[in-house]
Amino acid sequence: MELVQNAWYVLLDPDEVPARAPVAVRRLGLDLVCWRDGAGRVAVAVDRCPHRWAKLSPGRVIDGCIECPFHGFRFDGGGACTAIPAHPDRKISGAMHLPVLPSRVAHGFVWVWTGPDPAPDADPPFFDFGGFSCAGSQLVVPVSAHYTRAVENQLDWPHLPFVHRTTIGRTVPPAMDVETRVDGDRIDSWLVSDPDGARIEFHGPCTWRLRTGPVWQFLAFVPIDDQRMQYYARTYQPFVRVPGVDWLVGRASAFGNRFVLDQDTPLVESQPPGPTNARTGEVLVPSDGPIIAYRKWRDARKAELAPA
Ligand code: FES
Ligand SMILES: [Fe+2]
Repeated sequence: MELVQNAWYVLLDPDEVPARAPVAVRRLGLDLVCWRDGAGRVAVAVDRCPHRWAKLSPGRVIDGCIECPFHGFRFDGGGACTAIPAHPDRKISGAMHLPVLPSRVAHGFVWVWTGPDPAPDADPPFFDFGGFSCAGSQLVVPVSAHYTRAVENQLDWPHLPFVHRTTIGRTVPPAMDVETRVDGDRIDSWLVSDPDGARIEFHGPCTWRLRTGPVWQFLAFVPIDDQRMQYYARTYQPFVRVPGVDWLVGRASAFGNRFVLDQDTPLVESQPPGPTNARTGEVLVPSDGPIIAYRKWRDARKAELAPA
């Protein structure tokens, strides 16, 4: 599917990868398999055995290698074949290689690097939440839309007093001037009438935050395929650190976030499928400034990507 090149995408929560079993996930338009390698790192590979193309995900994890359920071939976290049980004494050809995606666990997510350049040594960039707690607040919200539609929905100021008139848009006046600032992979925006108020910060290609009062709302946009995406939503709060109590506070904010995101979903799902584009027939207006900036940023970086 169309993705941004040389970027880290959030794939899933590491807690979704069992300690000793593979798990199948559909992400980035691909059927993938994840498991924990010998060092406990999360390995991410195409869910198709290079031998005769059976799915690997129903197999087992043995000594950090994934074992294909069909003929027992094993592959390590780098994709190298470590065993062909029918030919234990023969040299294994380099062609027997499982395509893996460069992956990293950081900031409470498994991330994958799209390339084509090699993955950087540094962790994926992330917002500074200053030690705030997000315990208990994480929420998974699936949406039947391309992830670019969801990103644009979260860069959209003028929808607030309409879609969210009963919640976060209650006090936002419909007439507005929106200021947009682009800096590398960052697109920040705010209302000219309230420069010290709410500010939407987007870090391309897939993370976002919004300060509402003393707390941060955070979203990760996770591409599944051209028709589907899902959010990981979190709230970072400064008040409660007591283990267990912070978790309860997090659950309460998740409930509120779910309600607000559910107000968006029918509208986003009513838009045409597939990626957004700077040259569609949509007629954009000045308050769409952050969306126009996002489309320009993506136009410069996007490509049809699939691992070899
Ligand atoms: S198809 Fe996987 S080992 Fe044969
Ligand atoms: Fe919204």
